[in-house]
Amino acid sequence: MKTFDEILSLVGKAVEQLDWSRKPEGLYDPIVYTLRLGGKRLRPALTIMACEMFDGDIRLALKPALGLEVFHNFTLLHDDIMDKADIRRGQSTVHVKWSSNHAVLSGDLMQIYAYMLISEAPATNLKQVLDLFSETAREVCEGQQYDMDFEIRSEVAPEEYLEMIRLKTAVLLGCALKMGALIAGAKMQDANRIYDFGINLGIAFQLKDDLLDVFGNEKTFGKKIGGDILCNKKTFLLIHALKADVRNELDVWLQNADAEPEDKIAAVTSLYNQLGVRKICEDAMLSYYEKAIANLENIGVEAHKKQELRKLAEKLMHRND
Ligand code: IPE
Ligand code: IPE
Ligand code: MG
Ligand code: MG
Ligand code: MG
Repeated sequence: MKTFDEILSLVGKAVEQLDWSRKPEGLYDPIVYTLRLGGKRLRPALTIMACEMFDGDIRLALKPALGLEVFHNFTLLHDDIMDKADIRRGQSTVHVKWSSNHAVLSGDLMQIYAYMLISEAPATNLKQVLDLFSETAREVCEGQQYDMDFEIRSEVAPEEYLEMIRLKTAVLLGCALKMGALIAGAKMQDANRIYDFGINLGIAFQLKDDLLDVFGNEKTFGKKIGGDILCNKKTFLLIHALKADVRNELDVWLQNADAEPEDKIAAVTSLYNQLGVRKICEDAMLSYYEKAIANLENIGVEAHKKQELRKLAEKLMHRND
């Protein structure tokens, strides 16, 4: 069994070897730039780990795993336009460094490359793999639209938020794991269980991302702290804060388009601190993490083969990036 670090190094080398040497530069440079900035490379690592857990040949899973990383990075190029985000991975985002048109078109091409790479899955389960990916990609778009719809809605229920993050984030983690399982020839029941592990882990992962967006450190997180507050993102934090009796005070900040960004971030963060919504969000995160661990325990392989995934899940709950 490979360790998580060994898998990351394998994935990192394979990402570097992707060939983007075609022209025009304006189309390919943003792709090379984005992929070189790295990121956690979580999704391809999950595919390889799942494949290995079910005794598969990880060489067969490598191209599809890379396809998922390229797809993920495509979503980030477009997401940063939607979220008006200027920094990611500690550097300027593509729409700022080049332009929104560049981010749109390079993103579109990355989605095409994602399909090209995923189509290299073994012929024996190619149809299953492609169907899984297409359904996932569709759901990510649905989640992203809900995310934007919620920015301009004043009432969003916690359940609606959880469904939105299941779609925009968790399904891709579930897909990455299930794809590795399918390529390894795992039983469908186990492939579905590892998918459920990914869904619950993914929900916890997005809750953590939302926490870091407010309480994180810009240097390690690599994104602007307070970005979600500026967009009126209906995160778990904001949804719970809006239930409290400071609702009117919060509404003033949400509706004041002329507020100084730093003033708005400071005021909303201070209300979050006053209300203790951080704890509500952390508790929800831990409860999804525990559900994920229970899903992992139900999978029909020896415990030692689940060890790396279990350790990774725990590490993700304590991350600061
Ligand atoms: C960012 O994903 C988008 C979310 C789903 C929160 P990651 O946190 O995996 O981003 P990178 O790839 O490590 O930069
Ligand atoms: C991530 O949501 C979902 C996708 C990119 C599909 P966020 O908007 O929270 O991700 P970051 O924080 O910009 O990475
Ligand atoms: Mg977003
Ligand atoms: Mg974003
Ligand atoms: Mg975020």
